[in-house]
Amino acid sequence: MKVGILGSGDVARSLGTGFVASGHHVMLGSREPGNPKIEEWARGTGGAGSGGTFTEAAKFGEVVVVATLGVASSDVVRLAGPDYFTGKVVIDATNPLQFDGSGPPRLAIGFSTSAGEELQKLLPRARVVKAFNIVGNAHFYRPTFPGGPPDMIICGNDASAKETVTHLLHEFGWPNVIDIGGIEGARELETLCILWVKTALKLQSFDIAFKVLRK
Ligand SMILES: NC(=O)c1ccc[n+]([C@@H]2O[C@H](COP(=O)([O-])OP(=O)(O)OC[C@H]3O[C@@H](n4cnc5c(N)ncnc54)[C@H](OP(=O)(O)O)[C@@H]3O)[C@@H](O)[C@H]2O)c1
Repeated sequence: MKVGILGSGDVARSLGTGFVASGHHVMLGSREPGNPKIEEWARGTGGAGSGGTFTEAAKFGEVVVVATLGVASSDVVRLAGPDYFTGKVVIDATNPLQFDGSGPPRLAIGFSTSAGEELQKLLPRARVVKAFNIVGNAHFYRPTFPGGPPDMIICGNDASAKETVTHLLHEFGWPNVIDIGGIEGARELETLCILWVKTALKLQSFDIAFKVLRK
């Protein structure tokens, strides 16, 4: 499958590496062509990874991932061109974090909307699925923890899009995928990111992930 990833940061590159390792072809996109972080990443992918602009990555992907600064993702999609997302599964890995210079981040929006919902509103003809936003990028691919694989929680309005993302998550080594319903569930998933950050700071470890215990 061809995967377009909007972003050049750690999240985009970690996801890109995971998709390449799963046998997919990946293009990472940035505001400017020739982003050095993307070029370096692409050199390590054995030809399966490439770089381009946000527009080129959105056009390239059969599945498109938004992995940019959360509060900039609407601008990024407008820059890329919303038409290039039409009919596609769009994975929203962002969190709309607001940093005030001290302490952990807060959500820039919440309660009555979320980054996931705003993305779906901006792309009414795409099928947005929130995923990957509740864990650190070091553990996106083949997460190994003493207590077994963590759970990935996803949400979105389109059942077949969530099936596609669940399949991709299985390839990434996430056997337990919990679907909490429509894209409005992004409000809780984005809040869970803040909980993840505060817990990591308290435990002084970013090697943490969520798992639901069942009996
Ligand atoms: N850190 C984690 O482990 C983790 C885990 C899960 C989810 N997340 C979420 O994943 C997202 C990406 O995180 P990250 O740390 O990899 O990257 P980031 O530093 O949050 O974002 C970098 C990307 O955002 C773009 N960008 C920044 N400001 C912009 C603006 N004003 N207009 C347009 N584009 C802009 C950059 O474009 P250029 O390429 O042009 O520079 C770059 O592609 C965030 O929403 C984060 O909350 C993070």
